[in-house]
Amino acid sequence: MATECTSFDAAFYKAADDFFAQNSSIALTYDDVTLATLYSEILPRDTNLEMDLADGLRLRIPIISADMDTVTESRMAISMALNGGLGLIHYNMTEKEQLSEVSRVKNNVHGLIQEPIKAHADQWIGDVLQRIEEKRFSFSTFPVVDEQNHLLGLLPGHVLKQRYAGKKVSEAMTPRSQLQTIKQSELGPDPIARADQFFTANIGIHKLLVVDDEDRLRGLFTLSDVERITQERSSQQKPARDDKFRLLCGAAVSATRNSTGELDQERIRAHVGALVDRGVDVVAVSTAHGHSKGVGETVRLIRDMFPALPIIAGNVTSAAGVEFLADCGANAIKVGQGPGSICTTRVVAGVGIPQFTALYVASQAAKQKGVRIIADGGITKSGDIVKALTLADAVICGGLLAGCPEAPGQIMEINGKLYKQYRGMGSLAAMKAGSAARYGHSKKDAARKVAAEGVEALKEVSASIDTVLMQMVGGIQSGMGYLGAPDLKELRAKARFTRVTPAGQRESAPHDVIEVKTGSTNTAS
Ligand code: XMP
Repeated sequence: MATECTSFDAAFYKAADDFFAQNSSIALTYDDVTLATLYSEILPRDTNLEMDLADGLRLRIPIISADMDTVTESRMAISMALNGGLGLIHYNMTEKEQLSEVSRVKNNVHGLIQEPIKAHADQWIGDVLQRIEEKRFSFSTFPVVDEQNHLLGLLPGHVLKQRYAGKKVSEAMTPRSQLQTIKQSELGPDPIARADQFFTANIGIHKLLVVDDEDRLRGLFTLSDVERITQERSSQQKPARDDKFRLLCGAAVSATRNSTGELDQERIRAHVGALVDRGVDVVAVSTAHGHSKGVGETVRLIRDMFPALPIIAGNVTSAAGVEFLADCGANAIKVGQGPGSICTTRVVAGVGIPQFTALYVASQAAKQKGVRIIADGGITKSGDIVKALTLADAVICGGLLAGCPEAPGQIMEINGKLYKQYRGMGSLAAMKAGSAARYGHSKKDAARKVAAEGVEALKEVSASIDTVLMQMVGGIQSGMGYLGAPDLKELRAKARFTRVTPAGQRESAPHDVIEVKTGSTNTAS
């Protein structure tokens, strides 16, 4: 019921259409706005963050890791999907390597150690002990296999003692005939539940070996892993899976051109076809300028070939760009030109739109066309995600995740601090490694002098993806609680905006204190 007070609020805190109409001559980004709080009966923990990126492609949290070579390969994609999000495997690698990365995600059985460390029957116990010491293994039970990986026995931790150093593994192991195993083909659609049943039925057994029909070792479950995962399952967070219970995985494809500059249709068809054979759930046609002929043709090509395959395409910052890509067949459109933490597009090319205005403009076309939009770039804290989700359906994060151990790349130490590399896909180094097509150049151009549109940078090593996403999800849920929004659709409907001045921005972060422990602002680094 509208009271005098609520209409007073409405004069100051505007719904998106009114707010952006009033601010149509200026482009705004996340820190330029803030959200008004509203009457709420919603507790943060009761909010639902699910969204459908396309029909049949449901994410449990609306967060996607960027298709960048310092952000998403299989390890990141597995962790993202386990947390309910999605990883887009980058394309700065050979197509063959990208296919293997996708397979790693799709074949990942959570909790199954697929390549357990093994011992051999004619090894000395002393050698095994030395290896444990050298490698600092935190476990001490080893399956024993022959040259062809056939299971011969299990070396239990309690025989790994110095007094037995002069004995052979074959003398100390529990022989195959006394081992309980399970066939890979019997794991069923929910291997963890199957392993859990096994451990309950077999008192005192803490390791379950998985074999194939020829009795070759195919993996190992440990009771402690299974217990941890079973506990996680009862928690709120659910992994993002396909209808065969496999983790979701996306992959980036580029609008590849042949030597005469024409779109290389054969190659794109073969590449996407192979990705589909590996079980990819969504492909992303990732370029810096999505409202362009080549990107449109690529999306059409893929759509004609795979009518049901979800396609993400981008990037655009206009309603016409969204309309164009939607008409070409994209299901979800990436919005963002130049907001990224490593982007220099606005500096170099003088183009791009501050992200919040770009999202509103794009969202108008998305509504008409029935497609999703994804806010790509410029997210540095969970509050930005909440704001983005008032206009977009999901967000893509690069820099926020690049410091996590799950991102590709070595950790380096500089002056006692730990860092990981994070570079723009339009940086010279990344373009030389393959991403030149994304910026409308060829790989050869990248080796010559072209204007880079990204920088090479470092991110301080952060906590694991689980922890970073837990903070982000907590922040989103908090925001939804403040707005009384039980789900993302309501968040979009209820959001009321106002502008923030530079003084207001200063007020919004910790100020006039000496911070001794971070926590109030939850950037990942
Ligand atoms: P964040 O802010 O999350 O941004 O680090 C990640 C997004 O930035 C885009 N991207 C680039 N944009 N030059 C650009 O102008 C680049 O070199 C570049 N590399 C990545 C991309 O959309 C990514 O998801």
